[in-house]
Amino acid sequence: MTTATTASTATAPNVPADATGPSHLTGPADLADLDEGIRDNPAAHRVLTGDRPTGPLHLGHYFGSLRNRVHLQRLGVEMFLVIPDYQVITDRDVADRLAEHTENLVVDYLATGIDADRATIFTHSSVPALNQLLLPFLSLVSVAELHRNPTVKDEIAHSSQAAVNGLMLTYPVHQAADILFCKADLVPVGKDQLPHLEVARTVARRFHERYPHLDGTPVFPRPRALLSSAPLLLGTDGGKMSKSRGNSVPLAADEDTTARLLKGAKTDADRRITYDPVGRPEVANLLLLAGLCQDRAPEELAEEIGDGGAAALKRTVTEAVNEHLRPIRARRAELAADRGHIRQVLRTGSEHANAIADATLTEVRAVMGSL
Ligand code: TRP
Repeated sequence: MTTATTASTATAPNVPADATGPSHLTGPADLADLDEGIRDNPAAHRVLTGDRPTGPLHLGHYFGSLRNRVHLQRLGVEMFLVIPDYQVITDRDVADRLAEHTENLVVDYLATGIDADRATIFTHSSVPALNQLLLPFLSLVSVAELHRNPTVKDEIAHSSQAAVNGLMLTYPVHQAADILFCKADLVPVGKDQLPHLEVARTVARRFHERYPHLDGTPVFPRPRALLSSAPLLLGTDGGKMSKSRGNSVPLAADEDTTARLLKGAKTDADRRITYDPVGRPEVANLLLLAGLCQDRAPEELAEEIGDGGAAALKRTVTEAVNEHLRPIRARRAELAADRGHIRQVLRTGSEHANAIADATLTEVRAVMGSL
């Protein structure tokens, strides 16, 4: 039996599985609850998350996840950002404008405050050993389990493809490889990703049951989802804000486009502006957005606008958004003009990710008894 070798770059945070915060907590955690624990020992954690390269990031991403990542990084936690390019072809035949979308994601990350010197940003197709983990991992889940995944079911229901392809059914296991290759213990995601996190946890547990390490330490920690406490923003049509529904304000939009998009936002006929998320979800959503931008309570903004009606509300929101995003957009424009730098960030990230993935695969092959 070969002993697993671990390159120095690959040393995962030295924490036992599940030791990511209070030991009774094994399910998803709220970032606010974990803050203290992370602050005490940021080096004990490794964060991995990512975004499909399918289009520009918007305000929902920004307030829902990008700001949290920056916060985590500033606490000193090591950050991995995967751009899962193979996931794009789960529900469409061809990944449209893949290089452009990939580069733009990097631009958005850096413009919103991710420090490229400390974060590892990479596409998962550029890390062969990560992808190879998919093979043993697939043997650990049943076909019935793959079929039961609610997020996959939902995506199949919304897919315009005539037939469901094999990658659609197996991508949550691929996502487990994204997370486990670097032994990440914290995964900031939205609620829709919880079933996938469960797959990653199951794979980690079953891998250990099937291939126990001689010294008893599992190869993989059981990662936990980190849910954002930021409220969910709706799109300008009152539905779920989404890259593909044309109802979002992209971070990269200019000020006039932002004004136009927000001017078209759905409201209601009541002139008096009040904050009532249940009774008046669209108006409440705009107040929330302005509140997030100005770090103020939406109720207070509603009071200020009073009888000004939807027009005044939209003016307030537009100003708040444009003002908040101004420095981010300026930085974005600078970064976008230097594609060479963006490519270099990806190359460096990929090199680091490859070193870690190679070391993990060596460990996996060793416990499996591969020669
Ligand atoms: N499935 C995620 C999404 O659609 C993207 C993703 C891929 C991801 N791999 C990941 C998220 C690993 C967190 C961790 O948004």
